[in-house]
Amino acid sequence: MSPYEIIARKRDKQKLTAREIDYFISAYLKDKVTDYQITAFLMATYLNGMDSEEISALTKAYIDSGETIDLSDVPGKKVDKHSTGGVGDKVSIVLAPLVAALGVPVPMISGRGLGHSGGTLDKLESIPGFNVNLPVSEFRRLVKTHGLGLIGQTADIVPADKRIYALRDVTATVDNIPLISASIMSKKIAEGIDGLVLDVKYGNGAFMKDPVEAEKLAHSLISIGKEFDKTVVALLTSMEQPLGNKIGNWLEIDECIDCMHGKGPADLREVTLALCSRMLLLGDVANSLEDAWQRCEKALDDGSAFAKFLEISRAQGADISYLEQPEKYPQAAKREVLKAANSGYINSMNTFDIGMASVSLGAGRKRAEDTINPRAGIILRKKCGDAVREGEEILEIHCDDALDTTAILQRLQQAITITEHAPTQQPPLILKEIS
Ligand code: URA
Repeated sequence: MSPYEIIARKRDKQKLTAREIDYFISAYLKDKVTDYQITAFLMATYLNGMDSEEISALTKAYIDSGETIDLSDVPGKKVDKHSTGGVGDKVSIVLAPLVAALGVPVPMISGRGLGHSGGTLDKLESIPGFNVNLPVSEFRRLVKTHGLGLIGQTADIVPADKRIYALRDVTATVDNIPLISASIMSKKIAEGIDGLVLDVKYGNGAFMKDPVEAEKLAHSLISIGKEFDKTVVALLTSMEQPLGNKIGNWLEIDECIDCMHGKGPADLREVTLALCSRMLLLGDVANSLEDAWQRCEKALDDGSAFAKFLEISRAQGADISYLEQPEKYPQAAKREVLKAANSGYINSMNTFDIGMASVSLGAGRKRAEDTINPRAGIILRKKCGDAVREGEEILEIHCDDALDTTAILQRLQQAITITEHAPTQQPPLILKEIS
């Protein structure tokens, strides 16, 4: 088999065999296929798609690129959650300790920022000392001892996704059902779970803008789960505006700390509780959704989720004094505000543009080798439906001193539409459940 011919077959809209896909991915890991060849393959797949057999073969090839973790000696059903990606989507950071605090083990393998969307690993790494690059043995120990572990893809677990993910991030090959399905499900199957709750985002800040496409993605993810004998539940949730008020790595951790003190934005709390309560059901520790929801609310409000977050952060090397006293975290060198050009109501937000503005501020990568500024990002002072007066602050940007912010502020100004009348209806935050 030649890599050239496999790329050409996908370019020409032909169906690839499982052998071809497996060969191509394993040859990439042995450096017999180059980054430019894999990128051409990704773009051909992006443009011409894959059917369900090819998606399944791609997922298997990713899983087989590393080892699969056996957690059968950890008592109870192991349940994880994964989001298809969004702006300000920090749910995993609150959810994982919350669910673990309620007795369901959460082995979580996450990703970094992807395109305009943020990534759990980058957020966790903004906490001084937090180590997400742990060997499998240490990950297993964390899950056994603390009921959760928070790591990224490694050279041992789904290394194919680790390398391909970084290329997709900077080559506009992210928003594609086959590539997202293989990327997410390979990580989740390799981590040794019994059940999975998916947060499939729809809207202008999601990879699937249209709810119908989001639902197709949910079905693709669920059917891979079925093949591997995993119980998968998906919620379709809105990304028509950023989730919560803060975007950017440390800023999001800061908002999660508020949420774990029973405060913070209502939308973040609602999506978190909706996903956590499904996880308790899959973990067999609650009798009904209502029971699960109430227990999750209590764990947020009585400090148990935060205590578990401190416990796992300390275990993964973090200096938890920054979590206990977030005000001591060093601030961004430059802060500027965007003011409303006229009075009215925030009618809509172009969430993709807000995500890209956050990347330009330094919260994400434009090239695979870029480093992230953990302090960079955006604080929204207004959300959709809110009234504003001319000259009132809509948002604040945080970045390095040297950055010229003129074009970024212009992009943000254009991303937020103010109208005279309040919008009649907001898209539902939680659109539907698919299982
Ligand atoms: N999350 C992932 O892990 N992979 C994707 O492709 C998108 C979201």
